[in-house]
Amino acid sequence: MQICILGSAAGGGLPQWNCGCRNCNRARAGEIPVRTQSSIAVSGDGETWAVINASPDIGRQLLMTPALHPKALRHTPIASVLVTNGDIDHTAGLLTLREKQPFALMATAELHKVLDANPIFEALDRSLVARVPVAVGSSFDILPGVEAEIFSVPGKVPLYLEGETVETDLEGEFTVGIEFRAGGKRTAYIPGCAAMPAKLAERLIGADVVLFDGTLWDDDEMITTGLGQKTGRRMGHMPVSGEGGSLEAFAPLDIPTRVFVHINNSNPIADPGSPEAAEARAAGWTVGEDGMVITP
Ligand code: MLT
Ligand code: MN
Ligand code: ZN
Repeated sequence: MQICILGSAAGGGLPQWNCGCRNCNRARAGEIPVRTQSSIAVSGDGETWAVINASPDIGRQLLMTPALHPKALRHTPIASVLVTNGDIDHTAGLLTLREKQPFALMATAELHKVLDANPIFEALDRSLVARVPVAVGSSFDILPGVEAEIFSVPGKVPLYLEGETVETDLEGEFTVGIEFRAGGKRTAYIPGCAAMPAKLAERLIGADVVLFDGTLWDDDEMITTGLGQKTGRRMGHMPVSGEGGSLEAFAPLDIPTRVFVHINNSNPIADPGSPEAAEARAAGWTVGEDGMVITP
């Protein structure tokens, strides 16, 4: 099995179009890696691929990834696309995947309702792009030789569906993680996660690889940097550092390969030379980058 990180950034990317923060300016200047928005591709045989999350940057991501180029006049190695939540950074790329190309569009029933309610996604011709509901907790063959299972993780409804009050740690069908099993190895991909309840920690024990929500370093970094008004937890993302952060939560889990993805442009770990990136590496983490290939 191969996992290719197509995009290692959170919504907005790095640089974000309207952001003049230090990380964004340094990415523009070529001083730190540019990161496109949140997506991975998975394959068991190197021929047929599943894309997990369709980022607004998918056109550029496919261009940068020869394994995903067409092999015939009209062709794609992508057999299926699965989305782990309904956020724009995970769904807007579906619009790029129109053009009469068959593939399976997989999501929970609740997330399919969100897509179904939005007529712009009818651009994906339903006679070619089957909308396949996937149940939480039941295994399915996502690709030849790769079994998958989705599981609920704490999160919230997509930003554009938020009402007056927002529950930020719903555990249901709006935010899921996915586990891939092949060749006796287990890989989990969780790009958004508001907290680490015991049930989720137990589920991850024994995984060989986890790609995990690295949105923010500090829960309040959007506020302290003057970039926004919300904490990470309010956005449905547990921070990397601090009490209840992912460094702490994963410390007892003994997972050999841990990779941060969905990294916000405000996060100091986006700069490989930062003390925070060094701290994450010292704790056994890899800071994910676009184009990184992981072979569990
Ligand atoms: C998030 O992960 O919090 C979302 O991608 C936010 C957004 O939709 O911009
Ligand atoms: Mn996101
Ligand atoms: Zn920025």
